[in-house]
Amino acid sequence: MGRVHEKKVLITGGAQGLGACFGKMLVAEGAQVALSDINLEGAEATAAEINESHPGAAVAIKHDVTSKADWENALAVAADHMGGISVLINNAGIGTWGNIETETYENWRRTQEIDVDSIFIGTQLAMPYLKESQPASIINISSVAGMVADSMMLSYNVAKSGVWMMSKSIALHCAKSGYDIRSNSVHPVFTRTPIVDPLIQLGGGGEEGEQKLVRQIPLRRLGEPEDVGYCVLYLASDESRFVTAAEFKIDGGITA
Ligand SMILES: NC(=O)c1ccc[n+]([C@@H]2O[C@H](COP(=O)([O-])OP(=O)(O)OC[C@H]3O[C@@H](n4cnc5c(N)ncnc54)[C@H](O)[C@@H]3O)[C@@H](O)[C@H]2O)c1
Repeated sequence: MGRVHEKKVLITGGAQGLGACFGKMLVAEGAQVALSDINLEGAEATAAEINESHPGAAVAIKHDVTSKADWENALAVAADHMGGISVLINNAGIGTWGNIETETYENWRRTQEIDVDSIFIGTQLAMPYLKESQPASIINISSVAGMVADSMMLSYNVAKSGVWMMSKSIALHCAKSGYDIRSNSVHPVFTRTPIVDPLIQLGGGGEEGEQKLVRQIPLRRLGEPEDVGYCVLYLASDESRFVTAAEFKIDGGITA
């Protein structure tokens, strides 16, 4: 039996990058997954790839995480397809680049709405489903940028630190209420997905741009999606049953 046998997992931002990788790794260990994304075509392609080797294990759902109505629909469709929801992975997110003098209010608002407000809206709506499928786990994808500031990541720093604290507050509420629902945050460093491309371009592009990022990381390489996936797999499984309100840095040592 797999490490997440019979877990029913909703992953936001599941079309590509980290979310798609989590879906593949979780299914390989026995889970069913619902991949939701604003990019339905991408989510459908990833679900089809998973279903080729594990028929029926994945479903794709159109979902803008800033929309309450989309959340209601995504949760209902996911629960219907999988027979419940026992793991919620709040993964959808965007990165923005700007300092206190250059960042626009529109960019600031959009980052807060997609990266942090969505987790409040969605997790609140997901609580009845998670309570129905205990033991349950909420996994929020924050960033090392939620712990360490950069002058050019103003909006992203604030959003991801909000995700970090929200995870703890949710964890304490669930524990106090006697629910077997854990809540933790995951903090990756630069990891090889499309979200990092603009940062590589800013550093001059190609190998040179990548090396500018790599030089900051003690382990001297970018993260791979699977590096984060192994942490998510642990948090989705009952192996982490005594772990809540914790933060997991998958960062090659950068925050040391
Ligand atoms: N890759 C990294 O270096 C890195 C580092 C730290 C944290 N993160 C975080 O990991 C998460 C996943 O990022 P990724 O690297 O896979 O990036 P990515 O850009 O490859 O994937 C993000 C996914 O989120 C989806 N998305 C964007 N806005 C959405 C919305 N409003 N509603 C629904 N879906 C939406 C996109 O369509 C995309 O499929 C993000 O929260 C990101 O901030 C990534």
